[in-house]
Amino acid sequence: MKYIDIVNGPQKASAIIQGCMRMPSLSKEEAAKVIETAYECGINFFDHATCYGAGEAETRFAEAFPLTGIKREDIYIQSKTGIYPDRQEFDWTKKSILESVDGILSRLKVDYIDTLLLHRPDLLFDPQEVAEAFDTLEKAGKVRGFGVSNLMPTQIELLKKCVKQPLVINQVQLSLEQSQLIDQPLYVNNKTTDMSLSRDCGTLDYCRLKDITIQAWSPLQVGMFKGTFIDNPDFPELNKALQDIADRDGVSKTAVALAWILRHPAKMQAIIGSMNPEHIKDACDATKVELSHHDWYALYLASGKFLP
Ligand SMILES: NC(=O)c1ccc[n+]([C@@H]2O[C@H](COP(=O)([O-])OP(=O)(O)OC[C@H]3O[C@@H](n4cnc5c(N)ncnc54)[C@H](OP(=O)(O)O)[C@@H]3O)[C@@H](O)[C@H]2O)c1
Repeated sequence: MKYIDIVNGPQKASAIIQGCMRMPSLSKEEAAKVIETAYECGINFFDHATCYGAGEAETRFAEAFPLTGIKREDIYIQSKTGIYPDRQEFDWTKKSILESVDGILSRLKVDYIDTLLLHRPDLLFDPQEVAEAFDTLEKAGKVRGFGVSNLMPTQIELLKKCVKQPLVINQVQLSLEQSQLIDQPLYVNNKTTDMSLSRDCGTLDYCRLKDITIQAWSPLQVGMFKGTFIDNPDFPELNKALQDIADRDGVSKTAVALAWILRHPAKMQAIIGSMNPEHIKDACDATKVELSHHDWYALYLASGKFLP
């Protein structure tokens, strides 16, 4: 495993994060096996959100965690707030953020979480309210660090107008198939392809400039949860390119696909969602793969992108 120091945030955080969105379908024994396997592979960072299984992911994690024998202080626990599927709205009001964090702590059965992210933009957000909520949570010792998810630079700047804590993380979608985070600069100012469209107003460069660590969600998925491209017959070229490097380096295609994200100089973390211990072990081999500059481009092109 490789570890990164998040600027103003968790230190020696594993480059691979175990996402817990798919944990609600597991028994507590199965969930314990997932946590244990991830930890044995070097993962010390676990990602949650209040909306994963309407809180069931956090509940299952808390039921399973004591079975593993891992100490709370030896891992980082992150959760996210702001999405309310039952109400069909996103909500960053002070009251909702505070109530939501109390719910997170009680479901996870912990006194604090290491990082809290605002999950998706509340179109009605008031940065002053968010600032007051963050101050209250920090003073109460309930949250140690703050960040965002799925936010573009202007929204982060607007938050920073009032929020005094550093925003240390931006969790956004990135996989070899869903690579819009990095595509746009190739075709800047060009009318011939949709790749030139700026879909997030320069989020990648902004985060690098501001020392905000990018966490890549759904690193193996096609579209938004359409299944993985690994072994998917719709992606023959990509699977061949992944297999060639996997054979060369003695790892799985999954490891190579994740290594492609970790190879980027932005020093991102990749959040895996597998609930299969064998897939988790395969994924963690990503940190053993040394992709050359050429390998990185070869994988990018095999995923269907093209250079001008
Ligand atoms: N901030 C956001 O808006 C946001 C949105 C979505 C997700 N997330 C976070 O990102 C995490 C990861 O998302 P994700 O679960 O979509 O990530 P993912 O790792 O891209 O996908 C995991 C899925 O792919 C399958 N899979 C993995 N390796 C496979 C393999 N070798 N062969 C076949 N199937 C394989 C898994 O099945 P198995 O379980 O069988 O391995 C699982 O169903 C979530 O848990 C959550 O923490 C954040």
